[in-house]
Amino acid sequence: MKVLVAGGAGFIGSHFAERLLAAGEEVVILDKLTYAGNEANLPEGAAFHRGDVAVQEDLEAIGAVDAVVNFAAESHVDRSILGPAEFVRTDVLGALALVQHARGLGIRLVQVSTDEVYGDVSAPAREDATLRPSSPYSASKAGGDLQVLAAVRTFGANACITRGSNTYGPRQYPEKLIPLFVTNALDGEPLPLYGDGRQVRDWLHVDDHCAAIELVLREGVSGQVYNAGGDDERENRDVAERIIELTAADHSLLRRVEDRPGHDRRYSLDSSKLRSLGWRPRRRFDEGLAETVAWYRANRAWWEPLKSGEYRAYYERQYADRLR
Ligand code: NAD
Ligand code: DAU
Repeated sequence: MKVLVAGGAGFIGSHFAERLLAAGEEVVILDKLTYAGNEANLPEGAAFHRGDVAVQEDLEAIGAVDAVVNFAAESHVDRSILGPAEFVRTDVLGALALVQHARGLGIRLVQVSTDEVYGDVSAPAREDATLRPSSPYSASKAGGDLQVLAAVRTFGANACITRGSNTYGPRQYPEKLIPLFVTNALDGEPLPLYGDGRQVRDWLHVDDHCAAIELVLREGVSGQVYNAGGDDERENRDVAERIIELTAADHSLLRRVEDRPGHDRRYSLDSSKLRSLGWRPRRRFDEGLAETVAWYRANRAWWEPLKSGEYRAYYERQYADRLR
């Protein structure tokens, strides 16, 4: 198979591209290289096109492929609160352009979505749960999902959706909780914990997330949604404590700061549908987090250059008042 991996210069997409190459597939990556896209993430052996998923000509320039997997997104909740419009463009219009492109080629699209579309939950959400997105990011992802499902129903597109839980591992841009706290701890910088720190996230290792997406690409039924949760729910304050232990950082770095507006209390997924196809998460969080911390410790050359320029400006805007 020749697979188009949109967003393959980002965190999860680059791991997925590596996985397909290791399985002997051909990979073409399309990525706009936003602040979160990184040429250093591109795996050897993948063809690369710089372009925008929301621009038809950029999709046409790639030529024939056998399947598309869409990771391309604006992906950070805090940035969506600072400026939602780009999220609508990429996460909704990009998904729409890709599903129409795939339909035109007569090939399958896997749309990579998120547990955040269900909003905060008190019990594990199944795929048929009501969508109650809370942030501009999750509202945009839900919009993308709905366009994909509508294209299946109305235009006969061949498409599946995956909804993964909070993902962690090597090469995650240092704006998200785990890479932010790990790199700040290694640098002796504060760890800004939002609110009471008792929000719950269900942590999924990036390799397990990619295994779920690959299974859906190969065996998913068109029009179906598949949840992929880590089954490893933790409160943020416990994750922060564990990072402090693993990095041997000073505990005084941990700072309670003003909460995220609209902050979802808990995400939790019922993944029994995907489990019935044979998938389950293999890497437990304690083991995976220790490996991830070791990776950031050993790969300063990857993340240190990212923490300047645009990142600094964002960091100041997001945290300066909170940390004062
Ligand atoms: P990321 O921010 O690391 O990567 C996103 C990539 O998309 C970047 O390489 C960026 O350059 C590219 N991109 C952005 N806009 C684009 C555009 N218009 N055209 C082409 N490329 C564009 O994100 P990630 O964490 O790897 O997430 C990948 C996907 O998985 C996203 O769709 C996200 O919603 C979903 N997801 C992420 C998580 C998580 O915890 N990280 C969990 C569940 C689902
Ligand atoms: O659940 C899947 C989603 O997980 C993905 O769809 C998103 O792309 C991804 O960004 C992630 O969203 P979250 O908002 O859950 O992830 P984030 O790493 O931003 O935050 C995780 C938790 O940690 C959340 O409760 C907010 C909290 N947090 C985060 C940051 C960045 C802090 O307390 N302090 C921080 O500085």
